[in-house]
Amino acid sequence: MIRKAQANDHARIVRLYRDVAAVPNGIARTPGEVNDAYVSGFMHKAEADGIELVCEQDGQIVGEIHASRVGIACLAHLLTDLTIAVAPQAQGQGVGRRLFRALLDEVTDNMPYITRIELFARESNVRARALYASLGFVEEGRLRARVNNAQGEAETDTIMGWLRP
Ligand SMILES: CC(C)(COP(=O)(O)OP(=O)(O)OC[C@H]1O[C@@H](n2cnc3c(N)ncnc32)[C@H](O)[C@@H]1OP(=O)(O)O)[C@@H](O)C(=O)NCCC(=O)NCCS
Repeated sequence: MIRKAQANDHARIVRLYRDVAAVPNGIARTPGEVNDAYVSGFMHKAEADGIELVCEQDGQIVGEIHASRVGIACLAHLLTDLTIAVAPQAQGQGVGRRLFRALLDEVTDNMPYITRIELFARESNVRARALYASLGFVEEGRLRARVNNAQGEAETDTIMGWLRP
C-alpha cells in the first residue's frame, strides 16, 4: 500500500533508512548518520512544504520517498531534496517504481505550481539512474569528484531533472 507518510511512521522510517544505509553506495548517509534528527528534519520539511510517501507491507515500511521546496519565491516551482529508499529485502520488486510514479502523479494532479523536480544520484548508481530516466528525468550535469564512495574514493555525482510535461 502506498500512502502519505504520517508523523507516527517516524521510528519505522528511521529503521528503513538504517537498513538501506547499511548497503554501501546507495543513499549518501552511513547507518550512523541516520539519526532521529535527520529523519524528523526531512519529515517536517515534507509535511510543511513538500511530499512524503511510504510503501507499507504487512505493517512494515519497506519504501519511502520525499522531496520538498526550498522556501524562497524564485524557487517556488522547484521540488528538491529528493531521496528514495527501498528496504534491501524489498528491492527489485517494483516498490521503487510505484513509489516514484505515485509521487509524480501527486505532483501532476495536485501540485500544479511544481514544474521542476531535481535529484542527485552517483554516476555509479546505474540502477537508480535507469529508474529515474525511465520516469522522465534527464541527466543535466556531472559533478566530478563530488561524493566519496564506501572505499573513500571520490566519485562523480549526477544531477537529474524532471520538467512538467
Ligand atoms: C534505487 C531504488 C530506490 C530502486 O527501487 P526498487 O524497488 O529496488 O526498484 P524497482 O523494483 O521498482 O525497479 C526499478 C527499475 O530498477 C531496475 N532494477 C530493478 N532490480 C534490479 C536489479 N536487481 N539489478 C539491476 N536493475 C534492477 C530496473 O530497471 C527496474 O526497471 P523495470 O521496472 O523496468 O524492471 C532501490 O533499489 C534502493 O533503495 N536502493 C538503495 C538506495 C538508493 O540507491 N537510493 C537512491 C539514491 S539516488
